[in-house]
Amino acid sequence: MVTKIFIDNDALSDFLAEQMIELILSKPNALICFASGNSPRNTAACFVQKVKERKVDLSAFHFIGLDEWVGVPAPMHGSCHNDFKNWLFDPLQIEDSRYHLFNGMSSNLDEECSMMDQYIQEHGGIDMMVVGIGMNGHIGFNEPGSNFDAKSHVVPLDEITSSVGQKYFSQPMKLEYGITLGFHHLLSTKKVYLIANGAAKAEVIQKAVEGEVTTAFPASVMQLHKSGCILVDEAAASLLTR
Ligand code: F6R
Repeated sequence: MVTKIFIDNDALSDFLAEQMIELILSKPNALICFASGNSPRNTAACFVQKVKERKVDLSAFHFIGLDEWVGVPAPMHGSCHNDFKNWLFDPLQIEDSRYHLFNGMSSNLDEECSMMDQYIQEHGGIDMMVVGIGMNGHIGFNEPGSNFDAKSHVVPLDEITSSVGQKYFSQPMKLEYGITLGFHHLLSTKKVYLIANGAAKAEVIQKAVEGEVTTAFPASVMQLHKSGCILVDEAAASLLTR
């Protein structure tokens, strides 16, 4: 795993969007997995701009969402689905057939997990993941205690995740469960970027980069990934000691 420090989030986002473009140019049918939330928003905007400016052909690429809130309808402001629609699918006119997302409203969440695992397998594995880090060290909804070998699964949400998650919604929400890809997927993805910006993320980034590898702090899993890359701005890197 390597860590790269950028002067600010714009520089980080520009670098990462460029990595996405290069992947698609070298492998047009690449499968990319993205988190929602605040961290990847700017990267998505840079990616959209670069695709438009350079007329990158996205007709063969595939996209999956990292996770979804259980019980939150796709069109609702705050759902992961809604983020992807606003950031990528609408601006780039990406057709439904090019992406696969968890349906957090499904009455059969086990089936949702199996369908996601099957989709990944059928597309030859994930080429690139872009993930964030939560204030409890989660990645996706892999909360503290999550196994490093899990595939897609449904998770009871940690209290920190349920309360921090309120920031995405315009009304108070009961956020009890999430559905997420597991660390089996992360560890078998060819290239994983974990991104963070701002001083509020400095402590969790320090633990992820320099702390013990333990399921108690899920983002430490990044240290086990040979092609894992942590991208941070200077504020998020401020507690790193080496
Ligand atoms: C969202 C997700 C979460 C977030 C994390 C950080 O799809 O997977 O794990 O990446 O909670 O959220 P932000 O980026 O909003 O600080």
